Amino acid sequence: MVRFLQGLGKKNRDHSMADIDRSAVPQHVAVIMDGNGRWAKKRGLPRIAGHHAGMKAVKRITIAADAIGVKALTLYAFSTENWSRPAEEVDFLMRLPQEFLKLELQELVEKNVQVRMTGWREGLPEHTLAAFDEAEEKTKDNTGLILNFALNYGSRLEIVEAVRSVARDVESGILSPDDISESLFSSRLLTADLPDPDLLIRTSGELRLSNFMLWQIAYTEFWFSSLFWPEFSELDFYDAIREYQRRTRRYGGLK
Ligand code: IPE
Ligand code: IPE
Ligand code: MG
Repeated sequence: MVRFLQGLGKKNRDHSMADIDRSAVPQHVAVIMDGNGRWAKKRGLPRIAGHHAGMKAVKRITIAADAIGVKALTLYAFSTENWSRPAEEVDFLMRLPQEFLKLELQELVEKNVQVRMTGWREGLPEHTLAAFDEAEEKTKDNTGLILNFALNYGSRLEIVEAVRSVARDVESGILSPDDISESLFSSRLLTADLPDPDLLIRTSGELRLSNFMLWQIAYTEFWFSSLFWPEFSELDFYDAIREYQRRTRRYGGLK
């Protein structure tokens, strides 16, 4: 615990966490980690330097989420549309999971964090998959925070694949059209084992979803930050949590 929290400025952190209601912490927080490239550009650095700095923010926010008892943290790391970027940038992004896990896996194991990957394995390099496989294997029995990386993830494709799987079962007679319910459909999505996000954070000032969890966010609370991802701190994360706790979720009813 202590080593994991090194260098975070304990005083500020305790202060910023103090007024968070521990009985109303969002179970599942999802983050669209955006703005790495612009963060680097602002400093006259190559875009990959922004991705590298973004890795440190991943660690910070993982610690912050764990510290207040968030159950699952999903981080959008690479979309199915991000393949259209230059090959060198894609290659760099595909090496980041290894780099991150090499540095942090031991500590994640000790902290009872369960690492997961949500996305299509097809198309991902062997070395990227191997890093996640090792992390998933070593943390599979952990019962603390679920740290879920959305990698090679795209929501429309996820929905299309779910429709295909249901259609196959109808064709073969396992299901009838009347059996198709919201919960059955949810169970065919890549996120079947996770609750829907309670809170979605997007950094970098962009106000869009970029093909992220379109089905799952039907009643999610949104919080946008103009900060670029590498400069997003645990204090900013706690701002989002406090704002979430001020909201009234109505789910279409009266409350
Ligand atoms: C987010 O930062 C990381 C990924 C999408 C992989 P960007 O790389 O999109 O940075 P900007 O949005 O161009 O600044
Ligand atoms: C969304 O960011 C994807 C990730 C953060 C991984 P993008 O930078 O790819 O989104 P757009 O292109 O600005 O919509
Ligand atoms: Mg971007």
